[in-house]
Amino acid sequence: MQIQFLDAAAASASRLIARLVNQDAMPADLEPVLAEAAKLSRFSGKPGQICEGFVERDGQTVRVALAGIGKTAAKDRRSALERAGAGLVAKYLISGHDELTIDLTGTGLSAEDTVSVLTGANLRSWRHDIYRTKLSEEKKPSLNTISVVSAPAEAAAIWAVEAAVCEGVAFTKELVTEPGNAIYPESFVARCQSRLEGTGVKMRVLDENEMRALGMGALLGVAQGSARAPRMLVMEWEGGNPGAAPIALVGKGVTFDSGGISIKPAGGMEDMKWDMGGAGAVAGAMLAVAGRKAKANIVGVCGLVENMPDGNAQRPGDVVTSMSGQTVEIINTDAEGRLVLCDALTFVQREYSPVKIVNLATLTGAIIVSLGREYGGMFANDDSLAASLDSAGQISGDRLWRFPLGPAYDKLIDSQIADMKNAGPRFGGSITAAQFLQRFIEDGTPWAHLDIAGMVWADKPGATWDKGATGFGVRLLDRYVRDAVES
Ligand code: BES
Ligand code: MN
Ligand code: ZN
Repeated sequence: MQIQFLDAAAASASRLIARLVNQDAMPADLEPVLAEAAKLSRFSGKPGQICEGFVERDGQTVRVALAGIGKTAAKDRRSALERAGAGLVAKYLISGHDELTIDLTGTGLSAEDTVSVLTGANLRSWRHDIYRTKLSEEKKPSLNTISVVSAPAEAAAIWAVEAAVCEGVAFTKELVTEPGNAIYPESFVARCQSRLEGTGVKMRVLDENEMRALGMGALLGVAQGSARAPRMLVMEWEGGNPGAAPIALVGKGVTFDSGGISIKPAGGMEDMKWDMGGAGAVAGAMLAVAGRKAKANIVGVCGLVENMPDGNAQRPGDVVTSMSGQTVEIINTDAEGRLVLCDALTFVQREYSPVKIVNLATLTGAIIVSLGREYGGMFANDDSLAASLDSAGQISGDRLWRFPLGPAYDKLIDSQIADMKNAGPRFGGSITAAQFLQRFIEDGTPWAHLDIAGMVWADKPGATWDKGATGFGVRLLDRYVRDAVES
């Protein structure tokens, strides 16, 4: 979506114009027929409301949409503004119009407010149509430009920053949406290489032999049942003090999770193409922070494997040795995410000595049972890191809810034969998964684990996404870096 800032004269030819309307404050300059239409359709400017009508201006029929942005002082003003932008795009994306003019005259919107509207509009325009060969002309997106009229002067500069974040979100949505035959460890790496080229992000890729030499027996045990070779992708962004220890972002990148020998039921198994949503969020966040030239040092690590059940696959009962030296008894080959993450966590600590670690993973079905699709689960060994992430979640809209950790949960994963087992009892499944990861955090480094299994994919359209990939995590991580690391 092209976004441009225009003065009123340059936009006078537009045939599709949106006015943003504060709740119970109908603009005084509306044509009577629009004011009447609003009244007839009970439009009062509440967030999410849209009402349209047709008027004649300079001898031309013009389509005018009124979009509600709620009350000026509302606590959720930012999200109301995003929803207004998103709602307009959702409504007119395939309308036949190629340009939507958003006229801010009389709204009193600040530059930040304006950018929130544009952010919603841009995010909601994302689609992935490459596999649709039979889309009729009238179902194809037509809208390609949003022109903003009467925006505060600073809006363009603020938008340039936010546009970089939107690109990160779009990249994550693409990675998450692509099926397992298109995105597997090597092609995930290739896509990141081509998308991040020229951004200043340095890339390192470890292949199977290098991972074996480092002793990553946990990750390699998961990979051994697949014909696809595993990879560890490392992305370094050094926008802060040269040489200063980075923040580490670590993602679970299981490009398809069949469950392995502990195979999953057939129903819904196609969803497991998005079991790389944590890694996808890390890649999108790297694109975002590099795109807006964040003044911070960040290292992103993606553990990339496919979990499949062939004759060489690992068995329940196997014992593997992780890079940390700790041994793990495999109880369930479907609890593979933690096996991938534990070696990625050890690797990033040994190689980069990060000041803080945040890992993201579609780790457990149990977190969806707990939180549904409203919050990602957060587990942390450090209150201040948890507070920063919680606040980043509220501001970005990628919200988190904190869960407990503790020794009583930890002992549930002790093993008879090895240092630990990879799966505990049925109850508290998200917590024992987090306890497993915590066993790989060295010297009390502040660490948070975000279980985002319920957030990566949506079966109905949401505020800033259509059905499908949500891009969850990118805006959260970007906001965390801005507020807790850069300032
Ligand atoms: N990738 C799944 C978790 C998941 C389930 C994500 C549903 C999104 C939707 C993970 O690898 C898994 O299979 N976890 C098991 C763990 C269990 C075997 C201890 C689970 O949650 O059932
Ligand atoms: Mn699994
Ligand atoms: Zn999984």
